[in-house]
Amino acid sequence: MKDTANASPAWDELHRRHVAELQQRAERALSLSGHEALLIASGVEKYGFLDDRPYLFQPNPHFKAWAPLCAHPDSWLLVRPGHKPLLVYYQPDDYWHVPPAPPTGFWVEQFELRIISAPEQALQHLPASAQGLAIVGEADAALQHLVPNNPQPLLDSLHWQRAVKTDYELQSLRQASRLAARAHLAAREAFLGGGSEAEIHRAYLVASGHTDRDLPYGNIVGINEHAAVLHYQYQDSTRPTQPRSLLVDAGAQVHGYASDITRTWSFGGAQAEAFEALLAAMEQAQLALVDEVRAGCDYRDIHLSTHRHIARILREQGLVRMSEEAMLAQQVTSAFFPHGIGHLLGLQVHDAGGFLASEQGGTRDKPAGHRYLRLTRDLLPGMCVTIEPGLYFIPTLLRQLRASSAGAAVDWARVEQLLPFGGIRIEDDVVCRAQGAPENLSRDAFAALG
Ligand code: GLY
Ligand code: MN
Ligand code: MN
Repeated sequence: MKDTANASPAWDELHRRHVAELQQRAERALSLSGHEALLIASGVEKYGFLDDRPYLFQPNPHFKAWAPLCAHPDSWLLVRPGHKPLLVYYQPDDYWHVPPAPPTGFWVEQFELRIISAPEQALQHLPASAQGLAIVGEADAALQHLVPNNPQPLLDSLHWQRAVKTDYELQSLRQASRLAARAHLAAREAFLGGGSEAEIHRAYLVASGHTDRDLPYGNIVGINEHAAVLHYQYQDSTRPTQPRSLLVDAGAQVHGYASDITRTWSFGGAQAEAFEALLAAMEQAQLALVDEVRAGCDYRDIHLSTHRHIARILREQGLVRMSEEAMLAQQVTSAFFPHGIGHLLGLQVHDAGGFLASEQGGTRDKPAGHRYLRLTRDLLPGMCVTIEPGLYFIPTLLRQLRASSAGAAVDWARVEQLLPFGGIRIEDDVVCRAQGAPENLSRDAFAALG
């Protein structure tokens, strides 16, 4: 992630309008929660137990929403109605590490700046009393009387509003998709060249221009059976003796905004025919599901629609000999598609606010039996969501299916044939438009690469 990436005039203007919108949203949230000002702590570095090595710093998303400052602990932002936001910018005189650069870049003009060289100096620039303050941050960021209180009504309002992206955010998300698309193609090349998971991961990093530290989440790089592990967390350094399939779920970050893209590839060959047919069917289903991203649509319906697609594919591909209705009723599709269709995307890969019933809070329930769905809201223009259907051969879920009353309807010989390929997930980042078909950031990014 490049904190000061791309200082073109377009970013200046996009960011100016973005901050104006955030100011309005903050004022609205403050009036709803009855606070006078919003104080946001960027966060603090955390250390391993009995150790002096810090964990990778994770900024408060509410802080990086205002400016592309992702590696800036001990900084603060004060937002007051009718004032320019005040940024207290921590820049220590540190010769062990590279301190944050002097504040420059397209974002600087939108803030009243105070530079501090010690964390306590923030107190000189911030309110002397916490009275009337909504202080948003992690508990560890507390500084004397400035103790985060994270008022729920304020957070609910901010999280509700944040699902709709500004043009600055959309442009950052587009760029994050472009970086990731390029890297996914490099990963595929490394796989087709016989590379190990670790080599594919490194090819991805080189092409994205990221290091591991910059990724919005740990890359998922699964060859063969590893493609069946939804969040496979290792990277085998041994080259596969018989490569068959590759699932890469990996993104990139621009200005602190994430992409989250999954592609599944076949290595080819005569044995891959059934897998490739399944891959083609999933590709068609994924595109149809992306097309369901429309203003006013209940995202839960897209999830339920995915189960219908999976049922049809299981029947058409000869995996399950049951009616699609019966498959749904007996939760057969959940054995093959055991996660949600997607989530909000933005400052966090699984962005906050997915279950809010309204700006005033409350929870909008998941459909019964679908515990892993991460978004239950109606879609609004400007929302960015992922659409990520999957179909996997997961041994533990297949054992349960085999033992169930639906087990007899499964063609287990065909399942055995596909097990060594692990599974399929295809994931795009999609923006809901006011009218008509959605903008598919990920497909657009791949298309631009030719
Ligand atoms: N990369 C995690 C997810 O797709 O939700
Ligand atoms: Mn993903
Ligand atoms: Mn995702």
